[in-house]
Amino acid sequence: MQTRTPLSYQATETEKRNYYQQVQESIVSLISYEDDLIAGLATTACELHHSFGYFDWTGFYRPIGKDSLVIGPYQGTHGCLRIPIGKGVCGEVAEQLKPQRVDDVNKHSNHIACSSSTQSEIVLPLQDPAGKLLAVLDVDSDQLAAFSEADEAGLLSICQLLGQHFAPRYS
Ligand code: SME
Repeated sequence: MQTRTPLSYQATETEKRNYYQQVQESIVSLISYEDDLIAGLATTACELHHSFGYFDWTGFYRPIGKDSLVIGPYQGTHGCLRIPIGKGVCGEVAEQLKPQRVDDVNKHSNHIACSSSTQSEIVLPLQDPAGKLLAVLDVDSDQLAAFSEADEAGLLSICQLLGQHFAPRYS
């Protein structure tokens, strides 16, 4: 696991972008010889969660069957075990295949509240190069508007590398 001081949500966009590059390099080196998706998602959730001071729940939901997302590797307190496709922010992202940042979850009518401390969240699709959804990455914070463009770009880049790395086995 990383030994850096966790990044604060008050970091500038430039600081965040530089930091995401370091975190991504760590993830690449951690998963480079691994071809099991769950091992890769578990390692990524751990690395991300402990690298950012404002990540309170960090994990993955995987599409199982036609209608559901099922909880995958995560760090934090308990999450919902299943989320119907289309429900909650995770379900919307699984349907629309576009990242979503929610600055205030209390104002997002379709948010599923798993923890009362969650104030904002970001959810991104993790797809293989052909576009098949392998998982969604969900990060929740107890800070309002914790996630910026730099978080979205950094996390999307990590999702893309995971999609490329694990695609040969799971597509
Ligand atoms: N935040 C999610 C629900 C998942 S749990 O909070 C981990 C959502 O509304 O999609």
